[in-house]
Amino acid sequence: MAELLEEQRESWGTRGGFILAAIGSAVGLGNLWGFPYKLYSYGGGAFLIPYIIALFLVGIPIMILEFSIGHYTQRAAPDAFKRGHKRFEMVGWWGIVLAFVIITYYPVILAYCFSFLWYSIVGIFTGGELPWAGEGIVGVENAKLFFNETYLGKIDGPNLGSIRWNIVWPLIITWVTMYFCIFKGVKLVGKIVWLTVPLPWLMLLILTVRGLTLEGSMQGLAYYLDPVWSELAKPITWRYAFGQVFFSLSLAYGVMITYASFLHSKSDINNNAAIISIADFATSFVAGLAVFATLGGMAYVTQLGDNPVAVEAVAETGPSLAFVAFPYALAQLPYSAWFSFVFFFALVTLGVDSAFSMTESILASIVDKTGWRRCIVLPVMTVVGFLFGMIYITQGGFNWLGTIDGFVNGTWGIAFMGLLECVVLGWLWRIKTLRRHANSRSDWRLGPWWDYSIRMVIPVVLGALFFWQLFDDIFGDGFLRTPEGEWILTNCVGLSIVALVPVIAVILSIIKGRNDIEGQEHPENNLPIGGRREGAIAFITASIIAALLVLWLTVPISDAVKQVILWLMLSGGVIVMLLSNYVLDKHHRSTSQASWLARWAGIIATMDTSAAIAIILMGLVQTEEAEVTTAPIRDTLSGVSYIILAVVFLIIIGGLGWCFYRALAAAKDTGIQHPDEIGDESA
Ligand code: PFF
Repeated sequence: MAELLEEQRESWGTRGGFILAAIGSAVGLGNLWGFPYKLYSYGGGAFLIPYIIALFLVGIPIMILEFSIGHYTQRAAPDAFKRGHKRFEMVGWWGIVLAFVIITYYPVILAYCFSFLWYSIVGIFTGGELPWAGEGIVGVENAKLFFNETYLGKIDGPNLGSIRWNIVWPLIITWVTMYFCIFKGVKLVGKIVWLTVPLPWLMLLILTVRGLTLEGSMQGLAYYLDPVWSELAKPITWRYAFGQVFFSLSLAYGVMITYASFLHSKSDINNNAAIISIADFATSFVAGLAVFATLGGMAYVTQLGDNPVAVEAVAETGPSLAFVAFPYALAQLPYSAWFSFVFFFALVTLGVDSAFSMTESILASIVDKTGWRRCIVLPVMTVVGFLFGMIYITQGGFNWLGTIDGFVNGTWGIAFMGLLECVVLGWLWRIKTLRRHANSRSDWRLGPWWDYSIRMVIPVVLGALFFWQLFDDIFGDGFLRTPEGEWILTNCVGLSIVALVPVIAVILSIIKGRNDIEGQEHPENNLPIGGRREGAIAFITASIIAALLVLWLTVPISDAVKQVILWLMLSGGVIVMLLSNYVLDKHHRSTSQASWLARWAGIIATMDTSAAIAIILMGLVQTEEAEVTTAPIRDTLSGVSYIILAVVFLIIIGGLGWCFYRALAAAKDTGIQHPDEIGDESA
């Protein structure tokens, strides 16, 4: 079909250009401060177990899925989904609208990085003093004051207050930089990423070497790596691990679909996805080493003085790690302005290609749909994005940024979107067609397990996380209203935004698009339909289980009876899911297609199963959010931490080594140059 759709679509210059651009999108701010603090807060080295499981179970298969659909259809997300059925277009827009919400605030964080980069440069030229520097524990307060008051002028509560003009210029610089990176199309992006990907890696390497050679670095690494196994018993650890994998790999926002749509028609899919995912993990892990080794060095230096500061006193979560804790730690050490420059330069170069990947994805979706010219849509988007960004650079904007990010990147936004994508492509598309497409041009092949994982395993896992959060929010106290009955405005707005996203997506999908793509649905939709009877039985059973689940949640019955019903519903859900899967497989193997009843039965049964699992998980964990356990205080790494380090490096080096070996072996087998490179030469 890719060949069918072949037209004058742009393409990446080389295979390397595409891989680096996708790595550029994946490796971003989330790697340098998101991953280290989550790992530290949720079990240290133990967090790596759910993370690595999530990476291989969900991350790599979904990245392959996004690459295959983008490449197969040669379209950005909305049109790509539309090829399956015209009603699926809204799924693509859903992700794109979510990406639009992120692109209103992600550049604001980048603007902070630009400002801090500027302070570091000024520091270098004015004798090495950073404006937030201060001794001992007082210095921690200084760093907090500098970020929150001097820089953000932060006010508490939902009020926005006035605009912070000191952040307007950095925000303009951010948008202008993004504009110039993508205004010429993906060929230029494919070249720019040769700079924006290796540069932060180099900076990270400098910070890691410097961190590890500091006296006391082991103290920091002990916080980062020493496992707290009890955290594994808390589902929140698993929820964070899966969420982080999604965000970090830029999945579910249509970015990877769009990037793959610009790939040459014979390019590899499976191996590229594995290389990109493992490289992203490697970056996160090394970033954590750099951050915590430096915090250890800082702790050691302050312990020598009169004012000791422990690692946990500064190792805060979220933006504070990048704009308070780390700048403070650097300020305690020699050549602070230089290393602060290296750190913020790394952040800027890491974040800019993630930010423009989202812009490119939105842009390509609009251009594909309307046929409008890039040179008109991009400036308009830049101005609109900047104007929305002004909301977040007010005095109260930072609070809103945190809340909205929590919704969009949390279970309500990203996990639900990922779930939807798998369910639609797994049950309603012919997933096998995508696998065949990917295998026919890849260095290694996927087995049928991939179909089942997209159709059942991943939706059950993501569905369980989604329902678990949903039940937590609905039945827990203080989500939309305080226990005193007052509305919590930030959460109400956050929830309204995620609820508005599908509405906007539906409206966008209804608007009539360019003529040349109208009515080009997948030819397999015209095959005769089979499996109506089995489908109807499965559909009715799955719906009954869903109704029972609602009753289970709302009607009071005795606990013992409830437990029995719950396990019955769980088994019922699994059986109907497997039955629907069997009906789909049977018909997709022949020259017919499975009835819509069987497909929808599969979807409902998958949701039944995940909701039942979520209820069981909820029962297991009552106090999980109450306290966060940190790693024990030590000056040396425990033996287990060394084993963890060795295993992680083995996975990274072994995984990447295997991927490159397969790429080389495939090139040798065919004896030809990679198609992308041929494309480049002829270009
Ligand atoms: N993956 C990026 C990071 O880790 O910072 C963030 C991101 C980029 C999320 C692009 C979503 C996206 F579409």
